[in-house]
Amino acid sequence: MRKAVLVTGASSGVGLALCKRLLEEDHELHLCLACRNRSKAEAVRAALLASRPLAEVSIVQVDVSDLQSVFRASRELKQRFQRLDYVYLNAGIMPNPQLNIKALFSGLFSRKVIHMFSTAEGLLTQEDKITADGLQEVFETNVFGHFILIQELAPLLCHSDSPSQLIWTSSRNARKSNFCLEDIQHSRGQEPYSSSKYAVDLLSVAVNRNFNSRGLYSSVVCPGTMVTNMTCGILPPFVWTLLMPIIWLLRFFANAFTLTPYNGTEALVWLFHQKPESLNPLTKYLSATTGFGSNYVMTQKMDLDEDTAEKFYQSLLELEKHVRATIQKRNHQS
Ligand SMILES: NC(=O)c1ccc[n+]([C@@H]2O[C@H](COP(=O)([O-])OP(=O)(O)OC[C@H]3O[C@@H](n4cnc5c(N)ncnc54)[C@H](OP(=O)(O)O)[C@@H]3O)[C@@H](O)[C@H]2O)c1
Repeated sequence: MRKAVLVTGASSGVGLALCKRLLEEDHELHLCLACRNRSKAEAVRAALLASRPLAEVSIVQVDVSDLQSVFRASRELKQRFQRLDYVYLNAGIMPNPQLNIKALFSGLFSRKVIHMFSTAEGLLTQEDKITADGLQEVFETNVFGHFILIQELAPLLCHSDSPSQLIWTSSRNARKSNFCLEDIQHSRGQEPYSSSKYAVDLLSVAVNRNFNSRGLYSSVVCPGTMVTNMTCGILPPFVWTLLMPIIWLLRFFANAFTLTPYNGTEALVWLFHQKPESLNPLTKYLSATTGFGSNYVMTQKMDLDEDTAEKFYQSLLELEKHVRATIQKRNHQS
């Protein structure tokens, strides 16, 4: 039977490169592109099928920052699939990023320079906003919309015969210091992206704790720093091109500069081949590239504890109850 794989954010960057690479690994996959923009998804589907005609490539339209859209897509998926073997929770945003020039220059002349470039720690702030669901946009897109998606898809993911895998695109930029259990949406801070990625790490740990016995496993990945639509929001493409010689040199000291989405998917593809039962739930898998351009996977122990992960998971369940009630009331009134 064909393996069924769902990829969110498959229309560009990491998601698109991942789809291409997964079809190189298994020509007969059923790949479902979960994208908010149907015409982009149609173009990706046509390109994938042109090079891999034996594959089955379908589309589900979903905007993970709109819960009605997530519910609608989940209903559609439950009608179309008996099970999903892999779900790559990859769609993500970093809206209006601002580079902290002062931190950049003071970091340049400190001992933390390699760490600063590898993780962007302290370098980036973002401007968040509130969505139509009344949630912080970065939190809803990067975390909560995906959380609701997996809650809704549980019947397709929880099987006792063979396990299913969730693989989250997190980041080396996930920082404990930017996350707070009392403000899980990061409505009071300036680094919602870092907070949301730390929240993803916590959620993955909690999913393992609550769902492994039902055959569902979860892992987190950092693809490294690549030039994609997201990073072109930080610096325009021509600046990335000008910086390339410096970044190539830096790569001899910092393996996080994967630079292309193809390289960045190394850890995501590696996980596709692993037995999920053998993975450590507290490990993050990092795509890395050497100075000579070879890709490999590194592991890193996540800076978190299971107690906080469980508390965060309980907060998400509470918020889920609240938003479901609000949406029901809204639908009833209209
Ligand atoms: N680039 C990096 O250096 C880097 C580093 C660490 C982690 N990451 C993570 O890698 C993941 C992919 O990012 P990328 O670098 O490949 O950037 P990208 O090219 O901008 O891709 C982001 C993808 O997410 C989709 N998306 C955004 N908001 C969505 C929404 N509300 N509903 C559904 N889909 C939505 C986009 O769809 P559209 O095409 O419709 O916009 C696009 O397909 C993200 O989770 C990001 O945080 C990236």
